[in-house]
Amino acid sequence: MEQTITLGDKSFRLYITEQQILAAVSQMADRINQDYAGKTPLIVPILNGSFMFASDLVKHLTCRCEISFIKASSYRGTTSTGELTSLIGINEDVKGRDIILVEDIIDTGHTLAKIVPATEALGPASVKVATLLFKPKALKTDLRIDYVGMEIPNEFIVGYGLDYDGLGRNLREIYQVIA
Ligand code: IMP
Ligand code: MG
Repeated sequence: MEQTITLGDKSFRLYITEQQILAAVSQMADRINQDYAGKTPLIVPILNGSFMFASDLVKHLTCRCEISFIKASSYRGTTSTGELTSLIGINEDVKGRDIILVEDIIDTGHTLAKIVPATEALGPASVKVATLLFKPKALKTDLRIDYVGMEIPNEFIVGYGLDYDGLGRNLREIYQVIA
């Protein structure tokens, strides 16, 4: 694996290895397995960033589950615009279901601060939030996060689903921008 990479006009250094990521994913799955034993949650990953995390997470789930992706976008370049530019796909019948929203990373929290109430309005039995990464110093909203893989500083990262202007999502590791 590369120690440093370049994507567009920025350089990044290796920050979280694949092994560290997968350990955090499997620990989170253990907690979800305990909390949802005997239930059939509807796993709702938020595209695009969470596709890789969601895929690894559900492989570790032992409860029955369904999976349905939704799409939201509030990012341009390396900063969140704070505006939800789209929310596509939450047309599944969520009434009475136990929903787990799955995010790659929570930064300002604006995306989920809109998606959580929009989901609750559809009449589910419960809504919980699972994120692989969380930047506590960037949080600008009052958001309950039920499952956090890792807390990280307020620095821009790419890899494992996360992109820099569309690039880097395919990387197995997570890289941090070099200022
Ligand atoms: P929020 O609405 O500010 O919490 O941002 C959430 C979304 O912004 C995440 O789902 C990511 O897609 C994107 N995002 C936040 N931080 C980063 C980062 O460091 N690198 C890449 N994408 C990020
Ligand atoms: Mg995302």
